[in-house]
Amino acid sequence: MSGASPEAEVAALREALRAIADPATGQDIVAAGLIEGIQVRGGLVQVALRAERARAAALEPVRRAAEALLTRQRGVTNAAVVLTAHKPPAAGQQQPNPQPGQQQRPALLPEVRSIIAVASGKGGVGKSTVAVNLAVSLARQGLAVGLLDADIYGPSLPRMLGLSRKPEVRQDRMIPLAAWGLKAMSIGFLVEEETPMIWRGPMVMGALEQMMGQVEWGALDIMVVDMPPGTGDAQLTMAQRVALTGAVIVSTPQDIALLDARRGVRMFERTHVPVLGLVENMSFFCCPACGHRAEIFGHGGARLEAQRLGAEFLGEVPLLLAIRQAADGGTPIVAAAPESEAAQAYAAIARRVWDKAQLRLGSSAGPKIVVS
Ligand SMILES: Nc1ncnc2c1ncn2[C@@H]1O[C@H](COP(=O)(O)OP(=O)(O)OP(=O)(O)O)[C@@H](O)[C@H]1O
Ligand SMILES: [Mg+2]
Repeated sequence: MSGASPEAEVAALREALRAIADPATGQDIVAAGLIEGIQVRGGLVQVALRAERARAAALEPVRRAAEALLTRQRGVTNAAVVLTAHKPPAAGQQQPNPQPGQQQRPALLPEVRSIIAVASGKGGVGKSTVAVNLAVSLARQGLAVGLLDADIYGPSLPRMLGLSRKPEVRQDRMIPLAAWGLKAMSIGFLVEEETPMIWRGPMVMGALEQMMGQVEWGALDIMVVDMPPGTGDAQLTMAQRVALTGAVIVSTPQDIALLDARRGVRMFERTHVPVLGLVENMSFFCCPACGHRAEIFGHGGARLEAQRLGAEFLGEVPLLLAIRQAADGGTPIVAAAPESEAAQAYAAIARRVWDKAQLRLGSSAGPKIVVS
């Protein structure tokens, strides 16, 4: 959009949104107070739609209709509408997520604008693969990105990024390793792969805190954190010590993995970390020889589960040999084959995550949100 002042552009878009009705009352969504914020930057429009958890599924058609309507407006090249259940924090505040009964210490990583935890309740569902490809996608979209391996027992980043050197230390601070356009840190860069890692709770917290507080991350737009499986010490440390913008929960479509995903979601809710949405990994298998699509673990479970939990479904990633080979070979697929279907899937999820993170941060991050 060009020509008009940002305020006028926002006002025009707000008027246009009056064409959409809140299904609960029939009132238009602007009058119903559902528009939490509208943000315009060039032809890019982002809108936050207020949705109480219980109404999230019912408002999904409204979200889609709003997105379609905005995309048709003159001068708009891309529109993203997200459902938000929480108000964004006030500008400039970097506080850890408030923990009941916990004394607040200043948050680590104050120069990092948004911090996203990639988590699951269950092991082996593809968290690390999602975290790495998400981070590389975000870097390819021009953002300053950090990737932190919070898995102290079983770090994956050295293998997945193809890194084996040790980080330099300057004035008692470690310099993160650079790879694929981002900065990365993992306990695996510091200890040999064969070293048994018999870390106990306090040591996990210590190691994680060091990788945040004693590493020269510099200013970043976004940090992606690859979480260990389960709901243990690392999750608690992250929730208590940094201002987590939100969590992305990874699940396979199997029911059992979804049950665990639910546990992951609840864990973040308990620690007051917003859940940005769910990713379905190993969603379906496309035979590379004949193109046949097989839904090995069932399909669509995460989408349904997201609706049930009032979280957004962020996208699905197919089960592909190329993804595993790329991960094992140290070149994430979004870098190895950026045009592939898999890379496109990760890139779409990355855009959605960035949009949601931006809206959650409000005016403290980049382009200004004009609250209508
Ligand atoms: N979409 C996919 N297609 C094919 N292989 C995949 C896909 N996603 C992950 N994998 C493979 O599955 C294995 C487990 O993935 P990954 O290490 O990312 O899981 P994780 O959830 O981080 O595991 P952990 O709980 O042990 O940390 C890896 O070998 C990875 O290459
Ligand atoms: Mg992992």
